[in-house]
Amino acid sequence: MVNENMNIKTQILDILSKSQGKTVSGVKLSSNLNISRVAIWKHIKALKENGVAITSSSKGYLLCDHEDLLYPFCFDKAIQDRIFHFHEVETTMDKARSLAKSGVKHLSIVVAEHQTKGRGRLNRKWFSSKGGLWFTLILKPDVPAALSYIYNFAASLSLAKSLKKSLNLDISVKWPNDLLLNGYKLAGLLSEMETQGDMVCFLNIGIGINVNNEPKTDEPKSVSLKEILKKNVSRKSILTNFLNEFEQQIQTIEPKKIINQWKQQTSTIGCKVRIETYSDIYTGLAMDVDETGALLLKTDDGVDKKIIYGDCFHTKE
Ligand code: BTN
Repeated sequence: MVNENMNIKTQILDILSKSQGKTVSGVKLSSNLNISRVAIWKHIKALKENGVAITSSSKGYLLCDHEDLLYPFCFDKAIQDRIFHFHEVETTMDKARSLAKSGVKHLSIVVAEHQTKGRGRLNRKWFSSKGGLWFTLILKPDVPAALSYIYNFAASLSLAKSLKKSLNLDISVKWPNDLLLNGYKLAGLLSEMETQGDMVCFLNIGIGINVNNEPKTDEPKSVSLKEILKKNVSRKSILTNFLNEFEQQIQTIEPKKIINQWKQQTSTIGCKVRIETYSDIYTGLAMDVDETGALLLKTDDGVDKKIIYGDCFHTKE
């Protein structure tokens, strides 16, 4: 974990990233950090083994993807103490749970380069190879648990809005909280909560976005930004833009307003769908999403159903 006390590797990356694409000599690193050049070499080797793109030459070391690093020092000073960065974790959801309990601030972010046991909704696996953006947002809102759903809608809405603004792509939200790009799954959200009495202690929203990775999911129809744009996209910018949008979005919590805005971004309403819950499968026409976030379905047998949780697949007919 890299946070308050910058360890040596983080300090090396900090110096390399501030050199703005210029090579930094081993001598300079060793004198700035007061350790031997051999020690610098060993730390650089370990960083490379962890997937950080650094090239070594006779002149020194060059950080190749300094625009895409997700270390706390890469973000605005104001949020650095809220970013918890890991190279590899089983899942950011578990890290976030223990950090939330340990008393980290509202709007902290746990981000990992790679997850070995990424989780999806309904106990599915979430494949999380390097290049994707895998993070969990820790929220500590002072609201009753019954209102927690609105933060998930605010998160998917903010993600869709921020990606559309910055990349000008045809992104929509699929009920409850997936993002689709050209009809393929671009991102998924998963939330976990702890309550005390009626109130939320913490609400963790895990977000997985296929950015520069090659997506592989149990569900075949997925896509990454890199596949569509044919170039790498900065995960740091995506995360920063999303956080700005989300913080603005949750300044006032008015469920009706948030759901109405969300409805403007969704491609689910009016679609033929198949809904899978823990116990049932329904097919029919998605008629609307109500103020509580429930999907109103007219089933193929003409029955009106209100679905509060499940996974939704858009079907052709
Ligand atoms: C889904 O569509 O089923 C939800 C996927 C959520 C994936 C994210 S990646 C970051 C966080 N950590 C996890 O293990 N899952 C969520």
